[in-house]
Amino acid sequence: MKKREFIKASIFAGTGLIAGNIWGRLTKKSDKTSKKKKVIAINGSPNENGNTAYALSVIGEIFKNENIKFEIIHIGKNDIRGCIACMRCHNEQTVCVHAVAEEKAWIETMKTADALILASPTYFGGITGTMKSFLDKAFYSGSKYFSHKVGATIVTTRRTGASMTFEGLNQYFTINQMPVASSTYWNNIRGLTIDDLQQDGEGIRTLQNLAKNIIEMI
Ligand SMILES: Cc1cc2nc3c(=O)[nH]c(=O)nc-3n(C[C@H](O)[C@H](O)[C@H](O)COP(=O)(O)O)c2cc1C
Repeated sequence: MKKREFIKASIFAGTGLIAGNIWGRLTKKSDKTSKKKKVIAINGSPNENGNTAYALSVIGEIFKNENIKFEIIHIGKNDIRGCIACMRCHNEQTVCVHAVAEEKAWIETMKTADALILASPTYFGGITGTMKSFLDKAFYSGSKYFSHKVGATIVTTRRTGASMTFEGLNQYFTINQMPVASSTYWNNIRGLTIDDLQQDGEGIRTLQNLAKNIIEMI
């Protein structure tokens, strides 16, 4: 090939490559937009159809409308013991060796989330015992799996004590490099029955806004 023809062919091939590249960038969806996002909620209530489950259904409606996967794990009825500080998870770099099969499965599911919601009724101004027993073990032995996921908290109360429950749940995120989604009030909905909760307009709006902010963040 003569020098002139070679230059012409090179320019032609180069232009084609650049055009192809630009077209590819314009038409290819980025990984961020093509992967369906997933939110996993842990419900610490023993009542699968109780107030905390209702609160999660409010937030779930927003996720459904925005095509976000949403899964609830109800842990509150299970027989779960607390952390006994044996340190084996730390020394052997393993998930909690005392965790029962269900707990191990929940942790595996939590690993797959883009955002984790911790939801609990208030028991004597704090998190339910079962929820705390599970979270202490899950986060002490597995915190590295949850780092950089978005975290959010939902608290139900009959009347009061929400702030301490809310703060207690957020501790798991804020020691673990997890950006926390917030709302237009602290994320609490209150009442004795689901009918009462449905009357708590501000509580419902707070949950809806929380869902929108989680979506923004993921
Ligand atoms: C053992 C126990 C302790 C409770 N302590 C409080 C409390 O400190 N403050 C409060 O407002 N409600 C308290 N409640 C009420 C529940 O937090 C409230 O009814 C909650 O919405 C129940 O959620 P669930 O239906 O998802 O289980 C308590 C309930 C139980 C069973």
